[in-house]
Amino acid sequence: MENRAQFGTRAGFILAAVGSAIGLGNIWRFPATAYENGGGAFFIPYLFALLTAGIPLLILEFTMGHRYRGSAPLAFSRLNRKTEWIGWWQVAISFVISTYYAVIIGWAMSYSIFSLKLSWGEDTGTFLMSNYLNRVDIASGGVPGDFGGLVPGVFIPLIIVWVIALAVLLKGVKKGIERANKIFIPTLVVLFFIIVVRALTLEGAAAGLEAFFKPDWSQISNGKVWVAAYGQIFFSLSIGFAIMITYSSYLPKKSDITNNAFITGFSNSGFELLAGIGVFSALGFMATSQGVPVKEVVTGGVGLAFVVFPQIINEFPALNSLFGFLFFASLVLAGLSSLISIVETYVAALTEKFNISRTKAVLFGGGFAAIVSVTYATQGGLFFLDVADYFINQFGVALAGLVEVVVIAWVLRKLPDLKEHANGISDIRLGGWWNICLSVITPVVLGYMMFDLIKQNIAENYEGYETAFIIQSGWMVAAGAVVVGIILSLVKWNKSTAANDKEVS
Ligand code: ALA
Repeated sequence: MENRAQFGTRAGFILAAVGSAIGLGNIWRFPATAYENGGGAFFIPYLFALLTAGIPLLILEFTMGHRYRGSAPLAFSRLNRKTEWIGWWQVAISFVISTYYAVIIGWAMSYSIFSLKLSWGEDTGTFLMSNYLNRVDIASGGVPGDFGGLVPGVFIPLIIVWVIALAVLLKGVKKGIERANKIFIPTLVVLFFIIVVRALTLEGAAAGLEAFFKPDWSQISNGKVWVAAYGQIFFSLSIGFAIMITYSSYLPKKSDITNNAFITGFSNSGFELLAGIGVFSALGFMATSQGVPVKEVVTGGVGLAFVVFPQIINEFPALNSLFGFLFFASLVLAGLSSLISIVETYVAALTEKFNISRTKAVLFGGGFAAIVSVTYATQGGLFFLDVADYFINQFGVALAGLVEVVVIAWVLRKLPDLKEHANGISDIRLGGWWNICLSVITPVVLGYMMFDLIKQNIAENYEGYETAFIIQSGWMVAAGAVVVGIILSLVKWNKSTAANDKEVS
């Protein structure tokens, strides 16, 4: 009999899966991605990607985890020995993501404290780059790729983030992951709801919402917009990077997989929409109070959360510090629950492959990731983070998702088998649509996009960075994940896992 850790309740699993999905991607990435890619018109590729790739893949990953009862490498190896490397590749992708993801949560932690006294002052951009990140100064000869010194203000919160995440993971699935999510997610939803309601009642909110939802149809035919939609769905739903396979391997035998996948997918998109509404209402308020159009105040990623938001908070009519704190605390909670799931992928994989205790896997795996993450706490950290994030998402997460569907649907022809497994335990029965989405629509759209994306990236460097820097910090990181995946798949499984193997297959 195998003695696998399990979630205690169905709600516990769903909260953990939703906790993984809802993360920095929803609050920090989605609003600006949607705006930059056609506003209201972005919802068409977004919904298309959600319904034809996101949810079907989520069902696939839940089914794999549940059926093969293992971390991603073990699940892939039980699916077919030759595919184990895909599982390790996804785990390696997660490893890379965890190293910079933790840093952004650390920034949010610092900013929740800064909110109390609005310490960022009037010029929030200079505060972020010079006072807080102490970024290498390009104007005085610094270049992306320089490390510069360690920035204590970033390093200290980073350590705190790792201590919290690893402490939760040390406690295990039920007492650690499940319990933490049961606290984090409801708290996050309440905090965020307060922020959104307040943002919606600010003067100018309607202008922000109009900018957000107004469709720019000319964008629909642009391939980049579709790439952005798929990228957003994959990152946001935590698919293609080993997480959902690992989490669902802790489900009890009797579990409704398909329903759980729909609940997770729609909760994540619901939250994403809520974040978009909140963020754009606040942007509308700021634009109105400065007397400028909304488009002049929108920026993506780092700029939106850590430059524009502090400005908005400065201009709030009342309770500025409280709202600043609520916003950044929400980012911390959303980020932590996702980081825990990202790190769990390699904790589970190391435990199974090398037959070591969870404690050792958490300390070695998590400890190593924490050491690597210090790269991003240096003065050059922001540049490394920007490039690693872009490459590991486009040529890591999205590509691994594509390889996963092609191998399962076409090479191994396992979809009917997996469908039968899901249908055997779920209320909603999967029909032909599921096979069509995974075997035709997703590979065609994603395959075309990937081809186009590679072409674009060869023709011009991402953000105009120097080629040497792009190769070292981008291409090599994405390619390194594949290489590490292949190497780890060559290591033999420990005997006890191999024995369990027979029971499952
Ligand atoms: N799914 C997580 C996020 O959206 C990784 O941030």
